[in-house]
Amino acid sequence: IGQTTIYKKSVHSTQTLAKETYREGTPHGTTVVASEQTGGRGRMERPWQSPENTSISVSIIVKPDISLREAPQLTLVTAVAISDALETISKLPVQIKWPNDIYINDCKVAGILTEMQAESDQMQMMVVGIGLNINQKKEQFPADLQNKATSLYIESGQEWSRTQILQALFVSFEQWYDLWIKEGFTQIRKMWEHYAGAYNQPVKVIQGNDTIVGHMLGINNEGVLQLQDQNGQVHLIYSGDLGLLRR
Ligand code: BTN
Repeated sequence: IGQTTIYKKSVHSTQTLAKETYREGTPHGTTVVASEQTGGRGRMERPWQSPENTSISVSIIVKPDISLREAPQLTLVTAVAISDALETISKLPVQIKWPNDIYINDCKVAGILTEMQAESDQMQMMVVGIGLNINQKKEQFPADLQNKATSLYIESGQEWSRTQILQALFVSFEQWYDLWIKEGFTQIRKMWEHYAGAYNQPVKVIQGNDTIVGHMLGINNEGVLQLQDQNGQVHLIYSGDLGLLRR
């Protein structure tokens, strides 16, 4: 991972550039890294703030030999890889919020956006976009995000080398990705559940106009979230937004 890296000081979106750059011969593990994004994208068409010098924006091109069914697992693999890297480096308590958010002390420190390119049933490549908040101070976040977003700096009180964190992220990603490809999802699921932690807590999932309230049972062997509602019915949640309900 990162053997071939395209580095840009400023770019609209590393995710878009990675997809535009991709050709058949592009090596697995090619990364696009930017110091600043002017049009960073989050999930569900939301904007993603990636200010210069304080954040990391990276998109990793991978070519997994998997079925389309297994594709959503890559987001969970990535969440484990980011959590592992951040916790090892910072010693801060890191938590995963399904499916793609990384939290420290109840505030979001990183997000993942996974996209794929497939032809009929054949996976061609996937692009894993990772946005990390590193050295932002609280007042550098937009007012409406100040209580929801955080950075390693805010949580630890010290500045971090973005190169060092990027390096650690690549090493961790490679390790967890390889394990996933070689041994399947079982080990990833265990680690994911270790970092997610919120079992048997009341949660709500918003899917478009529907809201399901229930208890999180965990993820199944395919990486699909299982939620039990008040009537005992188990729902399989493939996508949506998850919130913890305060007791
Ligand atoms: C989310 O939390 O909704 C996902 C955020 C993903 C942001 C990353 S930053 C690198 C890559 N380029 C983008 O435009 N988005 C992803």
